[in-house]
Amino acid sequence: MRIIISVVLVIALIWLSPLFLSDESGLRLGLPYRVFFTLFTLFTGFLFYLLRSPAMSPFKSTKTALGAVVLVFAASVGLMVLLAAISPQFAFESKATATVTPAERGKIVYEDPNNGCFLCHVIDKTGGTRGPDLSHIASVAGERRSGMSTGDYLKESLLQPGAYVVPSYDNIMPPVAQRLSAEQLNDLIAYLSSLK
Ligand code: HEC
Repeated sequence: MRIIISVVLVIALIWLSPLFLSDESGLRLGLPYRVFFTLFTLFTGFLFYLLRSPAMSPFKSTKTALGAVVLVFAASVGLMVLLAAISPQFAFESKATATVTPAERGKIVYEDPNNGCFLCHVIDKTGGTRGPDLSHIASVAGERRSGMSTGDYLKESLLQPGAYVVPSYDNIMPPVAQRLSAEQLNDLIAYLSSLK
């Protein structure tokens, strides 16, 4: 009788657990887990019941007893791992899903010392002054050369800096952007286009 009461109590606890677990704990006891623990509790209760009944013959040797323990352990751990794979119980935020815009990636390209843009250009009051201030480059880029869009002008000034030299500046900008991948170049252009 005591076994039945404990089993019922444990199962009730398992199914009521979501009420006590706050969202902040990061732990979520999913349905598969609750079903698993319920079955596990029932099974354990049944084992205890069997152990009590006199009809149960004890294991014949230590080997079989050990074997039985290992088997039960392996089976339950295996099932838990399987369940964890199917229904993860921890709600971790994956970094891969964090949204990063092309402009944000482009800012990283701009600030990369290997590209050295900031050595000659100022954005938000920081950087060198040998090249034009780029803090509002998106507002002037479309006006620099007639018939050239902001994106086209930016692309040209990155890949062929000498094709158009901004008045009162020297033609000293190296074609560093030629080394960038197509994606990095697009990101860099997206970043510069966001500087209105
Ligand atoms: C050695 C100095 C130097 C470096 C390094 C440099 N630039 Fe320049 N950049 C200049 C100069 C000088 C000009 C103006 C002359 C010209 O148009 O070529 C210029 C022009 C530009 C323009 C056009 C600006 C306008 O007002 O029309 C853009 C955009 C630009 N650079 C972006 C970059 C980016 C992005 C990088 C990094 C990948 C970079 N530059 C690296 C010196 C540099």
